[in-house]
Amino acid sequence: MTAEPLVHSLIPDDLEASRLPQHVAVIMDGNGRWARQRGLPRIMGHRRGVDTLKKLLRCCRDWGIPALTAYAFSTENWGRPLEEVDFLMTLFERVLRQELAEMMAEDVCIRFVGDLTALPRSLREEIERAMAKTVDNRGIRFTVATNYGGRQEIVQACRAIAALAQEGKIALDDIDETLFQQYLYTAGTADPDLLIRTSGEMRISNFLLWQLAYAEIYVTNTLWPDFDQTEFHQALSAYQRRDRRFGKVQP
Ligand code: FPP
Repeated sequence: MTAEPLVHSLIPDDLEASRLPQHVAVIMDGNGRWARQRGLPRIMGHRRGVDTLKKLLRCCRDWGIPALTAYAFSTENWGRPLEEVDFLMTLFERVLRQELAEMMAEDVCIRFVGDLTALPRSLREEIERAMAKTVDNRGIRFTVATNYGGRQEIVQACRAIAALAQEGKIALDDIDETLFQQYLYTAGTADPDLLIRTSGEMRISNFLLWQLAYAEIYVTNTLWPDFDQTEFHQALSAYQRRDRRFGKVQP
């Protein structure tokens, strides 16, 4: 008997399974505002934001979307109040520790991208443990951008390639888009098809500058902690109505 193909029976009827994005990226904005609207400290918004992210990850996996990337902490976020930065670092660490068994059960392969060297050592250790343990999981590839900046990523790729050229290991003519993307943090993962940003801001804030070149952008006014399955469904419906031409014209 052959194994059952992965059935995505939970996909809403109006979505075409064959035209779902293969990689969704999210800018999880609005946690602070969500908390403030309720008279709560900002950190409560981040805490609730984790629940939203977990639900989205599960939904992507159940609906057969093979990759999700979330912008958890930018290189600019160090400029936030110290207590908030400390809270976020501790939150990341705790979530990783608590969710590892669940990620294994749900076949999630987690990876982190960004300059991880600047993160607290205990968080780095937790990240390494989670990445090593889940490396062979195939249910969904979940990438967390932490201390990530798109410009910084491009600069570090340039440095690595320049070093190769300087050492005579590659010629200038070898440098093309294919080679370049091998030096990005995201090497080996297809570029996002869909970028979702919550809380209404119309910008990409130094996120995946190279990789988002042809992504469809969907912005909702909903604040991240309120972004639920219905909202995600709406984003996917909007995505399926788009005409993706990649700079070409319709034949
Ligand atoms: C932006 O909202 C949110 C963040 C900078 C942090 C997002 C992080 C999480 C949801 C935790 C993810 C955890 C793991 C382990 C991946 P904001 O604070 O900028 O909101 P505001 O614009 O309303 O102030």
